[in-house]
Amino acid sequence: MPLERNVDIAPASGKLGILLPGMGAVGTTVISGVLAIRRGLAQPIGSLTQMGTIRLGKRTDDNVPLIKDYAPLASLDDVVFGGWDLFPDDAYVAASRAGVLDGHLLEQLGEELRAIRPMPAVFEQAYVKNLHGEHLKSGASKMDLADQLGEDIQRFSDEHGCDRLVAVWCGSTEVYRQATAVHQSLEAFEQGLRDSDPDIAPSQIYAYACLKLGIPYANGAPNLSVDIPAMLELARANGVPVAGKDFKTGQTLMKTILAPGFKARMLGVRGWYSTNILGNRDGEVLDDPESFKAKEVSKLGVLDTIFEPDRNPELYGDITHVVRINYYPPRGDNKEGWDNIDIFGWLGYPMQIKVDFLCRDSILAAPIVLDLALFMDLAKRAGMSGVQEWLSFYWKSPQTPKPDLYPEHDLFIQLMKLKNTLRHLMGDDPITHLGAEYYD
Ligand SMILES: NC(=O)c1ccc[n+]([C@@H]2O[C@H](COP(=O)([O-])OP(=O)(O)OC[C@H]3O[C@@H](n4cnc5c(N)ncnc54)[C@H](O)[C@@H]3O)[C@@H](O)[C@H]2O)c1
Repeated sequence: MPLERNVDIAPASGKLGILLPGMGAVGTTVISGVLAIRRGLAQPIGSLTQMGTIRLGKRTDDNVPLIKDYAPLASLDDVVFGGWDLFPDDAYVAASRAGVLDGHLLEQLGEELRAIRPMPAVFEQAYVKNLHGEHLKSGASKMDLADQLGEDIQRFSDEHGCDRLVAVWCGSTEVYRQATAVHQSLEAFEQGLRDSDPDIAPSQIYAYACLKLGIPYANGAPNLSVDIPAMLELARANGVPVAGKDFKTGQTLMKTILAPGFKARMLGVRGWYSTNILGNRDGEVLDDPESFKAKEVSKLGVLDTIFEPDRNPELYGDITHVVRINYYPPRGDNKEGWDNIDIFGWLGYPMQIKVDFLCRDSILAAPIVLDLALFMDLAKRAGMSGVQEWLSFYWKSPQTPKPDLYPEHDLFIQLMKLKNTLRHLMGDDPITHLGAEYYD
């Protein structure tokens, strides 16, 4: 659907419910973070919606508002969180277990966090082999489970007086599966739900339940959920925005910062070896080769689209790209990611770059979840539906509106696309960077 310019955007009045299927490390870090920021205990570092600015008009106009003052986004004061998990722990216990944020901060937020309790999950062991849930729904069929999720959502919305809802999957990475016949149309998918087709993953049941109710859905993990024809058909039919997949944090963030730089300067790349050690529950899930496969596919796609080896075979035609993740409990959520990059320059002379990123996974992911929730809500109010490609900025493996269209991985093009979409929606001119004489 062509993007209309200066559209009528419904105001962000009333409460926005943010639903998180999966309330583990990332989920509880975003919830605790928003509560802390709301109380003035911390700053929303890493969040484009809260801290980013946007230039309007000429450089000489000196008109650079904060994005949150420019676009009509929901205010953090109007946000309320809910979700589902395999474990019944409230957000305080789950955040303490995840060990991302320090106990002193969590203690200050204790009352509010304890009041956030996950609803029982839709789960199937075959899709996440290393977790054994105890807080689960049972139902006569997968359609029955989808209906139960719908009832949960309705109840949550009524209890909290929500005007609008959005969902961001923060659940575990499911095993790698390709789409099958049951995913090809909405009719086949709904029949599959009634027949409890084994090819329908739990994450797809959540996505279906949300889209049926017109709730925008973003997928933070690499497994298929809204990127199947059945879900896109439903999103279009119900006028709902979707986006995915796999939050771009840590090592892939570094890749999409560095690789466009090498490409811009026409430096060749022979090899890129990436390895990680990670000790949280996500690391434990990814220790299962089938879940790791989903992650690997999502991580490997990045370099090919940035380097375009077909256009510059002499620079990028023969790259060895390896990605490894090793589960190493002592590190908890504090991942260490090493990259060895073999590059070559003028006349083919080789050089090496080593990156050792001691990062904090959930600290990098939390602002992404917040931004996605606020931008997806904006998209819905602006009448946008289907795949939100302007949010590629946040994804390791961005979904495109058509299957034959390659994704844009370059972080800086993604940022330009995002900001120009906001300008377009608000009726301002895109920034072309043409130069002083022409446009400034
Ligand atoms: N942290 C990052 O930097 C990052 C980056 C990209 C993607 N991700 C993805 O985000 C997701 C969350 O990461 P995390 O570190 O919070 O993991 P986590 O293991 O701490 O939390 C995931 C939670 O999801 C729950 N869960 C699993 N299946 C569920 C289901 N069917 N319904 C409801 N809950 C379910 C688990 O019980 C767990 O509490 C993972 O898929 C991870 O791969 C994280």
